[in-house]
Formats: sequence, structure tokens, C-alpha cells
Amino acid sequence: MTAIIIGPAILYLGDAYTIRPTLGWMDADVMDPQYRFNNSGGGAYRAARGASDQIVAEGLDRGFDHSIIDPALAGAVIVFCHNDQLGDLIPDLVEDESADFDALLVADMFARLKRRFHRAALCVWIKQNPAPHRNKHYLADMEPYIHAWNPGYHPVGDHHDMHRWHTATSMPSKTFSHPTVKPLSLMAKIMANVAGETVCDPFMGTGSTGVAALRAGKRFYGIEKNPQHFETAVARISAAWAEIEQRCA
Ligand SMILES: C[S@@+](CC[C@H](N)C(=O)[O-])C[C@H]1O[C@@H](n2cnc3c(N)ncnc32)[C@H](O)[C@@H]1O
Repeated sequence: MTAIIIGPAILYLGDAYTIRPTLGWMDADVMDPQYRFNNSGGGAYRAARGASDQIVAEGLDRGFDHSIIDPALAGAVIVFCHNDQLGDLIPDLVEDESADFDALLVADMFARLKRRFHRAALCVWIKQNPAPHRNKHYLADMEPYIHAWNPGYHPVGDHHDMHRWHTATSMPSKTFSHPTVKPLSLMAKIMANVAGETVCDPFMGTGSTGVAALRAGKRFYGIEKNPQHFETAVARISAAWAEIEQRCA
């Protein structure tokens, strides 16, 4: 296992399920794991864009093991998931469960998090530039994330930080050769909402959470198994830390 220290951040190249338990208590785990969704279709639109194929090639459509969400290790969690609708109502509304698999997935994750944490909120990133292909469904212009917390770790921020939505364009996959980079303004909003000093992102990707965490004055622990994405995260977080140090000099 490689570990790189950058100011108040430690980045691990390796498997989240092995490394995360060894890191101990964090104020917040902020994760953007592999979604589980039907990534077929797209026709000509798909052929013109590499992101969907890269998602499949890297297994980013196969879901993740929920055991990594552990209230014994974090006061709060933020977890992104895939959907364009949600609610406890959906299992009653959808006749054929596979017809709206995404909605059931979010409803299930919400119910599980609420069982394991004191309270939870459903928030949403509103994407201004969704991919044009939509598989006879609505555009994928809303990405939900759930913030669940235990007492002492409730959402924080000024009045204007407390919206459950954030609007931002998604990052083109070619920018960091990664198909699902989260916008920095979204991660900054999330950092303004999570309580405490320490943040871990076990599915770090290109390090968006880490950049936002350092800019928010937090300590950051990131884990990524793909060496190419790990190198990108090291470069982005090093650059962010250099900027912070320069400002403080
Ligand atoms: C959805 S992406 C996260 C993208 C990130 N939010 C960003 O802005 O760049 C999920 C990442 O988790 C990584 N990953 C998947 N399984 C992992 C595991 N078991 N341990 C560590 N990283 C893993 C993938 O390689 C991928 O880069």
C-alpha cells in the first residue's frame, strides 16, 4: 500500500474495504462510490462520447458494498447514489421493480441509512449539462446524495448553505480522464455542511473531495484503488495545498 502525505491530507493507493477500517474515527465519511445502474443505450450520442463506455470499462456501474458505511467509524456520512426520482412511495407505485430500479435503490439506501443513523436528509445536485442520451427516461439531470448523521454531527452552515440542492455543470470526462468527477463547487457546498475536522473519502477518484476539504480547513484521508486516478488526486490535492500555503504565507 502506498501512502502520500500532502499537508493535512493522507492519500492511500489501495482497497477501501481493507484500508478504511484501519483509519479509525472520522467526523464525516464523504463518498461517491460506484453507482449501480443500467448504462445501456445511447446510440449515436453514446458513440460520440467516451464517458459511458469508460464507466462500464472501470466497473463504475456495478454498485458497492454498503458495509463500508459504518456508524461506528464516522459521525456522519454523505453518500452519492444514482436516481432521477425517489421516495418510500416508489415501491408501491412501480409495478415491475426493474422498471425503476434506480428509484428503488435510492429508497433502499435511504431506509438503511435512517436505520443506522439518527437522522438523514436527501439532497440533490442539479446538473445543468446532463448527457443527451436517456434511454426512454427523463434526462439524468438530478444526482441525489444522502447526508445521514448521529447526534453531535448534524448539518452545519450559514442560512444560505442549508439548501438541499446545488446547481453546477458536470466536469467533462476528458479533463481528468475520469468519467464521474464531481464539481468543486458542489464539494465545497458539502464541506460547508459537514460538521467537524476530519473527512475521509474511501472512493476518492481524482480527489475532488480532498481539494474541497483542504480549502475548508479540514484534515483529509482519501483512498483510491486505480493508480492512474490516484496520481491525478495526488496532483490536484498537491496543487490545492500549495495554493493554500501561498495564501497563508
Ligand atoms: C464515482 S468515482 C469517484 C469520483 C470522485 N468523486 C471524483 O470527483 O473524482 C469512484 C472511484 O472509486 C474507485 N474505487 C472503486 N472501488 C474501490 C475500492 N474498493 N477501493 C478504492 N477505490 C475504489 C474507482 O476507481 C473510482 O475512481
